Amino acid sequence: MNEYKIAVIPGDGIGKEVVREACKVLDSVATKNNFKLNYESFDWGSDFYFKNKKMMPEDGLEILGNFDAIFLGAVGDPKIQDHITLNGLLLPIRRRFDQFVCLRPSALFEGVESPLKGINAGEIDMVVVRENTEGEYANVGGFQYEDFNDEIAIQSSVFTRKGTERVIRYAFDLSMDRNKKLTSITKSNAQGYSMVLWDKVFKEVSKDYPDVKTNSLLIDAACMDFIRKPSEFDVVVASNLFGDILTDIAAMITGGLGLASSGNISENKDNPSMFEPTHGSAPDIEGKNIANPLAQILTGAMMLSYLGENAAANSIREAVKIVLKDGDRITTDLGGNATTTQCAEEVISKLDE
Ligand code: NAD
Ligand code: IPM
Ligand code: MN
Repeated sequence: MNEYKIAVIPGDGIGKEVVREACKVLDSVATKNNFKLNYESFDWGSDFYFKNKKMMPEDGLEILGNFDAIFLGAVGDPKIQDHITLNGLLLPIRRRFDQFVCLRPSALFEGVESPLKGINAGEIDMVVVRENTEGEYANVGGFQYEDFNDEIAIQSSVFTRKGTERVIRYAFDLSMDRNKKLTSITKSNAQGYSMVLWDKVFKEVSKDYPDVKTNSLLIDAACMDFIRKPSEFDVVVASNLFGDILTDIAAMITGGLGLASSGNISENKDNPSMFEPTHGSAPDIEGKNIANPLAQILTGAMMLSYLGENAAANSIREAVKIVLKDGDRITTDLGGNATTTQCAEEVISKLDE
């Protein structure tokens, strides 16, 4: 029987609630498909910070290096500045394990109403490939004259040819497995260095994929077109910050953050990849057991695909589709009244139906 070592970091807020439920779904599907997930759970996050003045132990990253994958909920607490929590846990993991691709699919499933007029199930089906280790998130910069009237903040973006090329290639490869259609997003009219490099590399790499129909858009126009004609997009590749923003839009037009799955992928087999939904810790609804667990559950399916358990991953996806289509046990964000637990139990009951 295949066994996998999974580091579980529920994190903060609703992260704890949705991870708890998603693990039940994963366990159920593992039993049915004859493999085992050996979890080790870590209480890292904001509560850990209140006790220890750090988000994870000094050797936290080293510990995570021993796992096949990391399953994370969300990080962020209103009582701590976000740059401290995120730069103390989530972002170092993405960088340390060179998880250079952030893969974010968005599809409009049957039973889910898009806020966009006239858009029906099946008419949005896209994947955003977000660069995940450099770009605008490079964490390079500093303050000068901090807290004085003349204070200065400098935040540099870092775009390397290597980093740009590998994520663009990943997106082209993915396009070949899908509909051979790829859109690259930049802002090279205003950002005359970094984004010009990106556009140049995109054009160069495209020559290796003559079958893929390509398009380049500026980020502002892309935001507009995600709303105006979302069906036109298939695979989209974008820098770290632009990908972050675009994937919240992609989530909202396909039912919201409660359905948006995400994976931070490393191609180095010695590095674990990390699977965490697109949403955050949602302090406005935490502790009520009303968060939608489906984003975390679909994220779990993504993790299983990455581990090679494709049949199990597909059975989760199919079960989620049935739950959405039936609509009897969906959470309040989707217009239902089920609790987090009831919704996840419904998924379990639909596995292999
Ligand atoms: P958020 O994603 O936590 O919440 C945005 C809105 O969507 C809220 O109204 C929330 O209730 C709703 N929502 C999100 N997930 C939901 C779910 N599963 N079910 C139902 N409703 C859901 O974003 P935010 O409010 O901007 O950020 C809150 C905290 O989370 C901040 O500290 C932020 O930095 C952090 N954050 C962390 C991650 C992460 O860990 N990957 C991602 C985004 C934000
Ligand atoms: C996401 C989140 C993070 C990001 C934040 C919390 C640092 O918004 O995963 O989309 O911007 O990557
Ligand atoms: Mn985000």
